[in-house]
Amino acid sequence: MNNILVIDSAVTGESSISKSLVREAVEALTASRPAQVVHRDLGREPIPHLTEATLAGVRGEPGTDAERAARALSDTLIAELRAADTIILGAPMYNFSVPTTLRAWFDYVLRAGETFRYTEEGPKGLLESKRVIVIESRGGLYSEGRVPSGSSLR
Ligand SMILES: Cc1cc2nc3c(=O)[nH]c(=O)nc-3n(C[C@H](O)[C@H](O)[C@H](O)COP(=O)(O)O)c2cc1C
Repeated sequence: MNNILVIDSAVTGESSISKSLVREAVEALTASRPAQVVHRDLGREPIPHLTEATLAGVRGEPGTDAERAARALSDTLIAELRAADTIILGAPMYNFSVPTTLRAWFDYVLRAGETFRYTEEGPKGLLESKRVIVIESRGGLYSEGRVPSGSSLR
């Protein structure tokens, strides 16, 4: 079975460009091959930001209810990631970065010893053979240099 994990992070609802592109990508990927699709809409149901308690729960040995809840969420998100053959990330540009909800998702799935490890050469990923499709949308142009007036890019 083909497992697809879809992470949307737009907060613009039905008018979202990235979400419509993500939808198109899922349709294209599932058109000729059946797939199990797990979908997280972080703009609608955000993941809590990293706090003292969540960091202790994700990285350490959870001792309080808040720490245990953070660890359980991290375990769930990592399990979804591990099960996926293809991961589609919808990443609109908000204030020159990705949405903070998407950043929070990374905070929960990046766990040393589980999804990556530190080596002499730097951090190395532990989840191999996965296809990741990043779908970006943005309002501005960030190409190098000036765009000449009259250019079709304007
Ligand atoms: C809160 C917010 C901040 C934005 N900041 C930027 C920005 O820094 N640079 C940019 O090029 N576009 C910016 N935009 C425009 C979006 O990147 C653009 O509308 C894109 O289509 C958003 O994706 P979405 O339609 O999936 O939400 C911003 C839009 C919003 C709502």
